[in-house]
Amino acid sequence: MNLSRRPRRLRELTAVKPMLKEFSLLKEDLILPVFVSDTCIEKVAIDSMPGVYRWSIEGLVEQIENWQNIGLHAFALFPCISDQKKCPEGKEALNPESICYKAVKEIKRRFSDLILIADLALDPFTSHGHDGILSASGKVDNDLTIEMLCKSALIAAQSGFDVVAPSDMMDGRVAEIRNALDKNGFHDVAILSYSAKFCSSYYGPFRDAIASSQNKPIDKSGYQLDPANFREAMLELRLDEQEGADILMIKPAEPYLDVIKAAKEKFSLPIAAYQVSGEYSRIWAAGKLGWLDVDKCAHESLTCIKRAGADLILTYFAERIAKSL
Ligand code: PBG
Repeated sequence: MNLSRRPRRLRELTAVKPMLKEFSLLKEDLILPVFVSDTCIEKVAIDSMPGVYRWSIEGLVEQIENWQNIGLHAFALFPCISDQKKCPEGKEALNPESICYKAVKEIKRRFSDLILIADLALDPFTSHGHDGILSASGKVDNDLTIEMLCKSALIAAQSGFDVVAPSDMMDGRVAEIRNALDKNGFHDVAILSYSAKFCSSYYGPFRDAIASSQNKPIDKSGYQLDPANFREAMLELRLDEQEGADILMIKPAEPYLDVIKAAKEKFSLPIAAYQVSGEYSRIWAAGKLGWLDVDKCAHESLTCIKRAGADLILTYFAERIAKSL
């Protein structure tokens, strides 16, 4: 055959292949989400997330050294508190002795070159599991919720977090949090905003992990984005850019690669993507059935998330992948 283009020519040249790779996953791209519990001793496995644990502060401090040794330096902390500490207003979020604030102080005492990210949202602390305070009508009250988030951002900053990450999807919260941080001298604390957070069914295992679902499904469609809405996602990203976010995040990751790609093209801020609990657990579930290879699928899905445009990736696979890179 007289073919003017034979792309396979290079594909067959094994030695050249690494040079032609357009993207490589790096350990430096990865952020590990970590659950911190105020009830467990050392660590407790989460059934729906194989290989993921709820950690006690002591257990976590020891484990961080292992993670650091395999090249992980960035961690997003999520609290998991007992039901007695939950109330409709999520007041425990404003207790400076609450589990994640205590954990960051301990970690910072022992380790110097880590990035610690505080997830800002009320759902780990509210008895109903919503990300905010409910008004009389049963809807999440935007502005009251933001007041709480600003206060908890300040406690997070005072406790030693380097980055705060509002994951609540209230309107206008990035500007208010930035303002509260700056007024109190925390100019250097960065905001990683969950800008385009979709109302996804892939959060199920996470809600088990922080015990926020109490076995009832929660409808968060009054604040999280409709999975069908690309243009609305771009609006949310643009608003967070204007309000002063340092990093824009899209969540979940793999089902929303089009949004990641468009965000990378449109905005000059770093783009983060969160490969969420359900994306993790579905690979594991198929792996356990013998239908998929967990490590290969994890690597492929993260590579594709990076190819779409993510500079940073939050993933529960971070430990496994970092060991293999
Ligand atoms: C809520 C929050 C959620 C996740 C991170 N922060 C779940 C939700 O919106 O209900 C999900 C993370 C995951 O599924 O891994 N503030």
